[in-house]
Amino acid sequence: MRVLSGIQPTGPFHWGNYFGAISQYIELQDVADEAYYFIANLHALTTVRDKELLQQYTLDGAIDLLALGLNPDKAVLFVQSDVPEVSELCWLLMTGTPMGLLERCVSYKDKLAKGLKADAGLFTYPVLQAADILAYDADVVPVGEDQLQHIEVCRDIAGSFNHHFGETFTMPKGKVLDQSARVPGIDGEKMSKSYGNTLAVFDDAKRQRKQIMRIQTDSRPMDEAKEPDGDVLYDLLKLVAPQEQVDEIAALYRRGGFGYGDIKKALAEAAENYWAEVREKRAGLAAKPDYVKDVLAAGAKKARAKAAGVLERAQAAAGLYRS
Ligand code: TYM
Repeated sequence: MRVLSGIQPTGPFHWGNYFGAISQYIELQDVADEAYYFIANLHALTTVRDKELLQQYTLDGAIDLLALGLNPDKAVLFVQSDVPEVSELCWLLMTGTPMGLLERCVSYKDKLAKGLKADAGLFTYPVLQAADILAYDADVVPVGEDQLQHIEVCRDIAGSFNHHFGETFTMPKGKVLDQSARVPGIDGEKMSKSYGNTLAVFDDAKRQRKQIMRIQTDSRPMDEAKEPDGDVLYDLLKLVAPQEQVDEIAALYRRGGFGYGDIKKALAEAAENYWAEVREKRAGLAAKPDYVKDVLAAGAKKARAKAAGVLERAQAAAGLYRS
């Protein structure tokens, strides 16, 4: 099994990124034959238009992934733009991608609906993502639920290329976790940087506590019994608290007579314990940027070798001339 996934360096990673996707990266690196994980800086260019910031987010993203447990001896960690073969493959795929397929993609539709200007990069974003996946012959793509549509688009593109030019690409499958495919943010909507409702993984404990205390709760009287599942506080607590405490708090919800303030305090404390170790590890890695850059350079070399082989296969299939 070959695993691949990417994450955009658009700012600090949040709980949704971790529980939806990164936790899967870490788990799968132990069982995959090959695992490729990258910082999607080309995709991030569709939103981050500041040179220094993009550079910083890119390196920070790599540090974060390593601190969270990505092991460069088990997985190939690299930056997307270090593999130009993917951009070349993207063009090849673009020539067979129907406009209608891209017009249906939510990220593009959402932006248009909000009256924001969309550029060609945003419109063709899913084709670059398809190239990312196909360039490494990936079978499994661990993601959060919001990326499943893009993986379907990738399958469509690969299927029609294979149909037209003969078997060339491996058909990938998306993989989401049942319990954290769509982690809620502090307003109950999907946690997302663009909604400004995130809890960052590496925030200091004090700031995180403040944010947790600000989580919106419903206005029902606190002594009314309530089903815990679907309540933001409870759904977040389930991610970071030990099972015993989760069960206790579920019972409190069902019995009624609890205060949201107490649950928030429990959540803040559980979060602090949950992240303490990785925050320390991150501080250690941040002090060694040269080590992190070496990891990325070695990863890029391996990733390029793989992608170059697949690009050549696709170019030959499409009849592109090579001297
Ligand atoms: P991005 O950078 O928005 O998010 C990275 C990963 O985090 C997941 N995620 C969530 N999961 C659960 N609940 C949430 N609230 C939540 N928010 C984010 C995302 O689903 C994703 O898995 N287009 C991709 C990056 C990408 C990519 C790829 C992914 C580029 N090329 C190739 C897979 C394969 C993106 O914008 O993810």
